[in-house]
Amino acid sequence: MLLGVNIDHVATLRNARGGIEPDVFNAAKICINAGANGITTHLREDRRHIKDNDVIKIKNELDCKLNLEMAATDEMQAIALKLLPHACCIVPERRQELTTEGGLNIFSQKEYLKEYVKPLLDNGINVSLFIDADKKQVETAAELGVKFIELHTGPYSNAFGSSNEEVEFTRLKNAAELGRSLGLNINAGHGLNYDNVKRMHEIDGIYELNIGHSIISKAVFIGLDNAVKEMIKLI
Ligand code: PXP
Repeated sequence: MLLGVNIDHVATLRNARGGIEPDVFNAAKICINAGANGITTHLREDRRHIKDNDVIKIKNELDCKLNLEMAATDEMQAIALKLLPHACCIVPERRQELTTEGGLNIFSQKEYLKEYVKPLLDNGINVSLFIDADKKQVETAAELGVKFIELHTGPYSNAFGSSNEEVEFTRLKNAAELGRSLGLNINAGHGLNYDNVKRMHEIDGIYELNIGHSIISKAVFIGLDNAVKEMIKLI
């Protein structure tokens, strides 16, 4: 299992004072040097954390896989086609939300998304669709020409340690199995931390986990290098 570290919240902290610290590029470099397999950033419409120059610098100056999370808008498509990141993860986005709240409803926007991802795929970008662990969504993803899905682990993460954990975990496991049987590569992420991540190896064939908030939070106490290394050990 690979680890993509989401560094959005380094930018959140930087933006709190409107200055240049902590340096987002340096954070990305530390993650990669600590053994992370890639850097994930969500360039939001309102640029509340990561900004255009952050992703441009990481893409151009750091030798690593960049996974650009983005909404399926014309603006983001143009940015991705110019930047040509290693991967794009298409996510739903609402201005008011604190963080991405649910998976993309690809079933209801199938034709739009099929057209939307085509130029990205034609330009060699690994497109993934961030979806809930739902049979209909996984089946639809397989019809859109993408090779990757990212399963939303938020419901499992929230249920971890409660009576609902098993239900949510089984949902993820079944969705991953279905995806793989349909030829999709399976990524997963959202809400994973140093406790709940331990069950991810029970799901066969997860390709990559994208984890942000818990790693950056841990880094406040033990440093980013150690926080990344500790997560790598667990996964
Ligand atoms: N994957 C996707 C698609 C996301 O939107 C996010 C949050 O930006 C993450 C992974 C990382 O989530 P967290 O910060 O909760 O680890």
